[in-house]
Amino acid sequence: MNTNTKQKEWVFSDQRLQKLRQEYDAYTSEDFKVWQILFERQMPNLPKAASKAYLDGVEIVGFTADRIANFEDLNQILAKTTGWEVQVVPGLIDDDLFFGLLNNRRFPSSTWLRKMEQLDYLEEPDMFHDAFAHMPMLTNQPYVDFLENLSGIALKHINNPWAIQLLSRIYWFTIEFGLIKEDGELKIYGAGILSSAGETKFSLSNEPKHIDYDVRRILNQEYWKDRFQDKYFVIENYEQLYESLPEIESVLEEMLLEKRQ
Ligand SMILES: [Fe+2]
Repeated sequence: MNTNTKQKEWVFSDQRLQKLRQEYDAYTSEDFKVWQILFERQMPNLPKAASKAYLDGVEIVGFTADRIANFEDLNQILAKTTGWEVQVVPGLIDDDLFFGLLNNRRFPSSTWLRKMEQLDYLEEPDMFHDAFAHMPMLTNQPYVDFLENLSGIALKHINNPWAIQLLSRIYWFTIEFGLIKEDGELKIYGAGILSSAGETKFSLSNEPKHIDYDVRRILNQEYWKDRFQDKYFVIENYEQLYESLPEIESVLEEMLLEKRQ
């Protein structure tokens, strides 16, 4: 093991990382019903709206309406496709743990499901969002390579809240709210959109702006969490994300320097 590998893996011995697992037998019939309702409500919209990478991913991971995603099965599948894994976390976690896990190809996920009376509004992401919306994308190699290395950049600046805020904008407008152009048509790959029936429709409509992926513009773009975005950034392909990493790093450095002056 070289020094770099050791440094990268600090996260696994961090005291805050609890050894949690998905207690599949503890899911109640209400949980199964909630998963089924959300799945059946959203899935029919997606063949027309979602990126091919996501739809292929759903096939690969084998999600169905009658079965809450099982992380053990999922991990076996991901191990064979991109080498990623799902790491169970209690909910929102500190930024350094979050990016530390992603940088080690572990996707942090909660295991709890929203209740029947919260079908449309959630204060923080539940496992329907984390699993249904994020995990199929973990089968796409350039996408996960981007996620791993974007997190590596975040870790270099982890003690600088302004840098983390700027990098969160990239995460937000790609991983959570990204669109892609496929065969001349806009499609969704952002998980924040994929887990929301309302935003799926809205993001592809003529109401919001659709802007070509632009690192500098995103780094200068604030976002909001409590309503639909008024603009979405559109990539040409997933390689474009990965190839933009050096630019993310250099524009970030430039903006940090400006802030210091
Ligand atoms: Fe998310």
